[in-house]
Amino acid sequence: MIKPFALAMLALVSTGVAAADTPTTLMAHFAQKTGSPVSALSAARGETLYRSEHPGRAGTSVSCASCHTANPKHPGRTRVNKRIEPLAPAANPERFTDVAKVEKWFRRNCMDVLQRECNAQEKGDFVAWLSQIK
Ligand code: HEC
Repeated sequence: MIKPFALAMLALVSTGVAAADTPTTLMAHFAQKTGSPVSALSAARGETLYRSEHPGRAGTSVSCASCHTANPKHPGRTRVNKRIEPLAPAANPERFTDVAKVEKWFRRNCMDVLQRECNAQEKGDFVAWLSQIK
């Protein structure tokens, strides 16, 4: 017979597992919002989003790579020169494991670079590109 304590532990463990996001579950999450399958996400479009330059402050241009660097496996720098851990999961397994954190930073950084929020398609493409980097 399973003791109540063991059952409680089991419940705890399974909740922990269910709550953990991965790049794969996040791609499924964003794809579902677009109404298309995960296979319709595009790593190539994700890379274009990452590298595209947009008009920034005082005649400068800005892209995701401005802070996260041309190689997302490398650590980046904020405008005040604070270290940013690499964005690619291959170099930083903590990336794309928390949907709330991911949404918060998409909102902030897309507003910063594109002056608008990214849509589900762009977010899914972005995760698709970063997660296939070896
Ligand atoms: C001004 C600097 C800056 C720019 C430009 C920038 N980012 Fe970031 N980004 C950050 C910082 C700071 C963090 C949070 C610190 C951390 O997680 O290491 C972050 C974190 C993220 C995360 C969180 C990922 C995770 O799971 O931890 C995502 C997603 C992200 N950025 C996407 C983008 C996208 C998309 C663009 C371009 C549209 C972009 N960023 C441009 C500074 C920047």
